[in-house]
Amino acid sequence: MLLIERVHGKDLSGLNAVVVGRSNIVGKPMANLLLAANATVTVAHSRTKNLPELCRGADILVAAVGRPEMIKGEWVRPGTTVIDVGINRIAAPEKGNGKNRLVGDVAYAEAVDHAGAITPVPGGVGPMTIALLMANTLTSAYLASNLPRPQF
Ligand SMILES: NC(=O)c1ccc[n+]([C@@H]2O[C@H](COP(=O)([O-])OP(=O)(O)OC[C@H]3O[C@@H](n4cnc5c(N)ncnc54)[C@H](OP(=O)(O)O)[C@@H]3O)[C@@H](O)[C@H]2O)c1
Repeated sequence: MLLIERVHGKDLSGLNAVVVGRSNIVGKPMANLLLAANATVTVAHSRTKNLPELCRGADILVAAVGRPEMIKGEWVRPGTTVIDVGINRIAAPEKGNGKNRLVGDVAYAEAVDHAGAITPVPGGVGPMTIALLMANTLTSAYLASNLPRPQF
C-alpha cells in the first residue's frame, strides 16, 4: 500500500484495482486494504475467466499467484501500477549447472515497457515487507512501553 501511495496518494477513489490471488495471507488482505483506500477492487483466482482482459482493465494490478512470470506484458495496460508479490525460484542454467534465480508472478521484462510503475523481483515487495516488519516491531515496542508512536 505504501508503494501504491507513492504513485496514487492515499485515496484511490475512481481507480480500478485487480488482485490476482485470493489467499488469506496476501490476496484477501490486499483486497481489503485497497477497498479501505476507496479503490474499486476485483479479486481474481484460478477459476476466473478472461484473466488477461480483466488485468487490462486495472489501474493497479497486484499479482499474488505463485506462478513464475504468468502475467504477461500485454496484460498490462499502459500506465498501470504493477505490484508483484510473487517469489518463484526457477532454474537458471545460464548461471551454471543446478543454479536458480528468483522471478515474480509478472513477466517483468515485458511488463516494464507498459507499466507506469512496477516492482521488480527480487528487490521490490520483499525488501519492503522486511522494512515494514521492522517498523511495525519498533512501533509495537514503543506502544507497549507507553511511548508515543514513532514516525518514519
Ligand atoms: N513478497 C513477500 O513478502 C511475499 C509474502 C507472501 C507470499 N509471497 C509470494 O506471493 C505469491 C502468492 O502467495 P500466496 O501465499 O498468496 O499463494 P497461494 O496461497 O498459493 O495462493 C495463490 C492464489 O493464486 C491463485 N491462482 C493460482 N493459479 C492461478 C491462475 N492460473 N490464474 C489465476 N489465479 C491463480 C489461486 O487461486 P485459487 O484460490 O482458486 O486456488 C490462489 O488464490 C507466492 O509467489 C509467494 O511466494 C510473497
